[in-house]
Formats: sequence, C-alpha cells, structure tokens
Amino acid sequence: MVGDRRVISPNWYDEADAYDLAFAFATDREVDMLTHAFADADVHPPARLLEAMIGGARLVPGLADAGFHVFGFDLSSAMLGYATRRAPGRVFRADAARFAAAQAFDGAYCLVDSFRYLLSEADAAACLASVAATLSPGAPFILELELSSPGPPIPDTWTTDRGDERASVCVTSHEDPDGDLQWIDVVVNITTPNGSHEVRSSQKQRIWRPDDLASFLTASPFTLETVWRRTQERGPPLGGLPANGGPVTLLLRNTSPG
Ligand SMILES: C[S@@+](CC[C@H](N)C(=O)[O-])C[C@H]1O[C@@H](n2cnc3c(N)ncnc32)[C@H](O)[C@@H]1O
Repeated sequence: MVGDRRVISPNWYDEADAYDLAFAFATDREVDMLTHAFADADVHPPARLLEAMIGGARLVPGLADAGFHVFGFDLSSAMLGYATRRAPGRVFRADAARFAAAQAFDGAYCLVDSFRYLLSEADAAACLASVAATLSPGAPFILELELSSPGPPIPDTWTTDRGDERASVCVTSHEDPDGDLQWIDVVVNITTPNGSHEVRSSQKQRIWRPDDLASFLTASPFTLETVWRRTQERGPPLGGLPANGGPVTLLLRNTSPG
C-alpha cells in the first residue's frame, strides 16, 4: 500500500517513531535469549549491562524486569529520545567506533545487525576495543549480526501493531560498487486512524563473510565461545560460524586483562 504521504530519509533512525512502531513486537524471546546467554557466561541479575547502539531501548524494560541494570548509547538523537524515556539517566550519545564509559560492566550486547553500520574494518575493530575496555576481564559480549549468504537477497517482511497504529515493513538490500558494503533498503507503510504514510530509506552496511569475521575476531580482544542462529529463536548452539552465512548471535568473551 502506498501511503498518502511519502517520507524519504537518508537515515531511517531519524524517523524514530517509524522504527519504534516497526519494532513494537513483544521482546520476550530476545530478553529470554539474552538472559540465558548471559547465564551461560555466569552473568546473572542484578548485573550491569551495556547495550551498544541501543536505539529506542526497546529491550530495557524486559531486561529490567528480569533484574538487570541496563545502560546504553546510540548515535541518533531521535532514537535516544525514546531511549531516554525507557531508561532515564542511563543512556548517552556516542559513536560506537569511538566511545568510552566511565564504569566497568559485567556484560554487553548489540543486537539487530547494528554492528554492520560500522562500515570499515578499522571502525569495527575500534568498537570491539572500546567494548572490551568497558567490560571486566572475562565478561561476555553478545553480538547479533547477519553474515553474508550466497545468492540473491531475500526480502524480510513483517507487520506490527501498536494500539490502533500498524506498520508493514519490508527490508531488502542491493549491491554497492565497494564489494565490502551493501545498501539496506527499508520501506515502512504506516497506517493510523488519521491516515497513512510511507517511510523509505537506504543505508550502507558492511558485509561480513563468515571467514572474514572469524579472522577478524581472532585478532580482536574477544574469543568466540558460542554461536546461535538468531536471538529471536533461542535454538540450540551451532557448531561454529555457518559457512553459508545468515543471521547469527555470538557469545564473545573478553580476553583483555582490564
Ligand atoms: C537496528 S537499530 C537497533 C537498535 C536497538 N539495538 C534495538 O534492538 O532495537 C540500529 C541502531 O544503531 C544506531 N547506530 C548506527 N550507527 C551507529 C554508530 N556508529 N554509533 C552508535 N549507534 C549507531 C542507530 O542509530 C540505531 O539506533
């Protein structure tokens, strides 16, 4: 459906209300997965967690209910508007490629493929170094990202409701001339009692091939301990990074001495 109005945004996180509606689904499965993954790493409530690229802090209420103290940061002021309401006094604005936190955390996480917004390997490495510096030695970092898969892109579509508002979302990708990058194309059709509109955006993300990610992690301050298919599914662990790519959730262990 094409809406009455079309918003074309170079950064869909500037349209924080559209993101918040598009991700208005229940967070139970992600909270459950995180709680169990942290427990596997011996991190239990009331541990202090850092969410890198926290967006609107949609996971914070569920994790707070589970007993965790969650802090986080994001680059988008619009997204932080939502985050501040959900986690007052616990969020700050920072670039994941260059951030520092004054305190040590028991664990950290970064979900929904956000890590791929770090476009260069240098920025991705700087992010991991910063996360390691904020964690106590041996602490876990749970990272969810989409590894590149052979074949044409498969669009991801879903619908969410929030009261009398509805978002229909389609996310797909197209190639960039730089073979290490791709464009993520998002279309959100929003209907409310007052009418409908459409938000469109295309943003670059870094492509991580399974072998490249494995080498990259080997040179990082983390060791790869467990791989799951995706945070929303909480299936059994995989044997390692899947050679054919797809979404993965990684339990990384901080090896820096602190
Ligand atoms: C897919 S959203 C995920 C938000 C949140 N983690 C969640 O689960 O809903 C990606 C987030 O990454 C943020 N982001 C992108 N690049 C960033 C950067 N360099 N530093 C910090 N945040 C960044 C965006 O503003 C956006 O809020």
